[in-house]
This record gives sequence, structure tokens and C-alpha cells, in this order.
Amino acid sequence: MKLFEMKHIKKSFGSLEVLKDISLEVEEGEVLSIIGPSGSGKSTLLRCATGLETPDSGEIIKQGDVGLVFQNFNLFPHFSVLKNITDAPIKVQKRKKDEVYAQARKLLKQMGLSDRENAYPFQLSGGQQQRVSIARALCMNPKILFFDEPTSALDPELTGEILKVIRDLAAEHITMVIVTHEMTFARDISDHIIFMDKGLIAVEGTPQEVFASDHVRMKEFLGKFHQG
Ligand SMILES: Nc1ncnc2c1ncn2[C@@H]1O[C@H](COP(=O)(O)OP(=O)(O)O)[C@@H](O)[C@H]1O
Ligand SMILES: [Mg+2]
Repeated sequence: MKLFEMKHIKKSFGSLEVLKDISLEVEEGEVLSIIGPSGSGKSTLLRCATGLETPDSGEIIKQGDVGLVFQNFNLFPHFSVLKNITDAPIKVQKRKKDEVYAQARKLLKQMGLSDRENAYPFQLSGGQQQRVSIARALCMNPKILFFDEPTSALDPELTGEILKVIRDLAAEHITMVIVTHEMTFARDISDHIIFMDKGLIAVEGTPQEVFASDHVRMKEFLGKFHQG
């Protein structure tokens, strides 16, 4: 079943055309990764997909709610871990407190953070903050979870713990769209990969197809990773 679709999405900021004509589909249970150089429009695409930006034209068709995990966690600094996770389900979704707290604690357990529910974000490592942020997104019961470079603000030794959490979610068949610069991870976890360049989808396909493509800009982009 198709859970999410973008048709001919365009978005400009002033005279800067950031998304030129983006069409894509996400099937239930699938993992789609989006790769591409900085400035190619990946974050703007996710912000349009999750309703934080309004496209200038085109159509977005979604089944149910979508969640977003940000690059910089975006936790509320003055809320405890538990309140960060439960606030929107209770206030925005108007769900019963007991049920939301039970779900939040289950998610914290899954994220290995059961003992941190009363901590504040500043008391946590970046990896722990990002795990809280994933729990917060999941507690809204989204049909699809979008990730915008979930590990790029983390030290290398903390990146692995977040990639593991995302791998575990993929094993549970959570539908996900992941913007990432972790190429090996993207190749391993994804059903499909999109390479964006200058506001367009330049290459798309299975990981095998995309990494074997001889698209010049993509080979240039991948080359930077092999050297690093
Ligand atoms: N709110 C905004 N106002 C003006 N320009 C923006 C805004 N958001 C993004 N841009 C510009 O759009 C381009 C694409 O940005 P972005 O979607 O963040 O790319 P990526 O995530 O691929 O690095 C960049 O040139 C960026 O400066
Ligand atoms: Mg970005």
C-alpha cells in the first residue's frame, strides 16, 4: 500500500528554486534514503513532506500522521525527557494520559533510556538526546517517520548507537524516509535510494542500481566519501 506520495513538488525561497519538480512514493514498510550534496534541497523536501513548509505547487498525498526526527534533536530544554515525549500526544492528540505515559515508558525502554525519564536534555549525551527525539516522534504513532541527517550532529562514537536504533525500527517494518550521509548504512538498510542534486531527483532505484549508476555528479559525490 502506498503511504505517501509527492507529485511535482516545487518550492522556491525568493528567487532561489530549491525544489524543482519532485515526485516520489513511499510504500508501507519501506525504507527510502535520500542522499546528495549539501544545499541540494533534502531538508526542504522533508520540511514540505512533514508540513513545516508549504510547497509552491504540486500535490502531497499522505495516509495518517508523519513524524520528523531533526538533525539537532530539537528537544524542549525546559521539559524532562518524559514530558518531551508525552506533551504533544496529550495536548495535541488529546489522548489519555495513562495510555501515553505507558507508551512513552515502553519506548524509553526500547531506546535503553528507562532510567533517564526525569532527566533534562542538557544532562544527556547527544546520542541519548537523539534517542529521546526518536521516542518522541514514535509516541505520536506516525505512519511514516522522516529523519533529517539524524547522526550528523553526533560524534562518530555516538553515531553507531543511533544507526542501530534505526536498523531495529527497520526490522520492525516501520516505514521510514532517511536523509543521511552514512553511505554504507544507506546501502544496507534501504529498499530505495534517491540521489538529489540541485533540487531534482538525479538518480533513483535500489541501492544496487544507485551505487552502480555512472551519473557524473553522483560519482563525484560518492568519491568524496571513499576518500574520507
Ligand atoms: N527558509 C529558507 N529561506 C531561504 N533559503 C532557504 C531556506 N531554507 C533553505 N534555503 C536554501 O535552500 C537551499 C537548499 O537547502 P536545504 O533544503 O537545507 O538543502 P540540504 O538539506 O540538501 O542541504 C540552500 O541554498 C538553502 O540555503
Ligand atoms: Mg539538510
